Amino acid sequence: MLINEGIKLGYFILEKSHLNGEVKISGAKNAALPILAASLLVDDGLEIKNVPDLLDVRTMIEILKTIGKSVKFENNIVKISGDVKNKVVPYDLVRKMRASFNVLGPLVLKLGEGQVSLPGGCAIGVRPVDFHIMGLKKLGFEIDIEHGEVFAKKENCEKEVIINLPFPSVGATEHLMTTASLLNGVKVTIENAAMEPEVVDLQNFLNKMGAIITGAGTRKIFIKGVKKLRGGSYTVVPDRIEAGTYALSIAATFGEGLVKNIVPEHLEVLWEVLKETGTDVKIFDKSVYVNGKNKKKAININVQPYPGFPTDLQPQIMVYLSVAHGTSMIIENVFKNRFHHVDELVRMGAKIKVIDGTAIIEGVEKLSGAKVEGTDLRATAALIIAGFMADGVTEVHNDFHVLRGYENIIPKFEGIGGKIKHLR
Ligand code: EPU
Repeated sequence: MLINEGIKLGYFILEKSHLNGEVKISGAKNAALPILAASLLVDDGLEIKNVPDLLDVRTMIEILKTIGKSVKFENNIVKISGDVKNKVVPYDLVRKMRASFNVLGPLVLKLGEGQVSLPGGCAIGVRPVDFHIMGLKKLGFEIDIEHGEVFAKKENCEKEVIINLPFPSVGATEHLMTTASLLNGVKVTIENAAMEPEVVDLQNFLNKMGAIITGAGTRKIFIKGVKKLRGGSYTVVPDRIEAGTYALSIAATFGEGLVKNIVPEHLEVLWEVLKETGTDVKIFDKSVYVNGKNKKKAININVQPYPGFPTDLQPQIMVYLSVAHGTSMIIENVFKNRFHHVDELVRMGAKIKVIDGTAIIEGVEKLSGAKVEGTDLRATAALIIAGFMADGVTEVHNDFHVLRGYENIIPKFEGIGGKIKHLR
């Protein structure tokens, strides 16, 4: 898609490297995006700090501007002011990033009606928005879907609404929690809610702006709708997936280092897996030390919604396990087809088979450099780690995937000794 917009696709060239040293983690993409979408509900000026400078964040800012907001983004601070004026979010913006769909609820609350394109297919598997639609209907939205567009209007709803999500969807929980926060006089309960730290961060942001929300971080969230949200300043949480990616890259290359500026509790399951597989882990207040000098041991991993093992670290842990002693299994329960990286890893010498949503990884002695293609954000990050582990030279194509979600990836890897070049 980016080729059509005149942006030339680039690629990374990697050489085997032992990653050692300290790396500082940026603000969380998946917390910043829903907070930016929720900013549509705030009438006064807003300042959001620790926002990572990434393609996805730039896309969300483009959406806010398209809708009429005035937005400035400098030094990881987003300043937002002005009113919502336009009710249409065009396909060109939604197709770039599915999280754009989360502006629908706020947009309709501000203007009475709105139109957002239906997100299309996605490289990590089927990603419908039926839970969002079901929840919005319960919140009194009249919704029509035609020609790939979602048209929504606000009508009245019950004074007490219970939404039970069939699966703890992160996006649906965030979209519905945000929208419910400005339904004046309405009490909403979201059952089977996602518990991810990014949902908690969104609750903290909304409450700081005057919302009344409790329960985020558990399976039940309670929202008491208010009349107005005020402006203010908020700092986004550190990116646990970026932190996990660097921790895994250090451990996988038999290096040692400190991943700084993080909330270690957000990744407890990863620290446990690293320890069980032979990597030394020391947890500090806001950083984690990892030492991957030992040969890795195989392990079985069940990918689950938080607090389970995160799907956004599944490709990266698979690379780490590809050279472990023994056979590991990874069962992917969130995006059952999120395995496009497997064929590319096999080209690099890994022994992996996928059967019915389960990857079976037979550890090999070493990976060997090859030309491979990234298919989505985390798959590309995993291939970059594989490039640092492999003998010889690796080319990872489709650079834009990883640039969507990792701030300053080249200087950060270079800072810990990664031999990486970005060619465009
Ligand atoms: N689902 C439905 N219907 C819906 C919504 C979700 O069936 O209406 C299903 C999905 O198909 C999937 C499961 O529920 O099988 C979980 O999807 P979820 O809604 O939780 O995912 P998301 O909100 O679209 C966010 C992250 C993803 C991350 C997932 C799971 C953002 C912007 N994106 O997506 O992040 O993988 O949660 O944790 O927060 C990434 O950063 O690389 C990334 C893909």
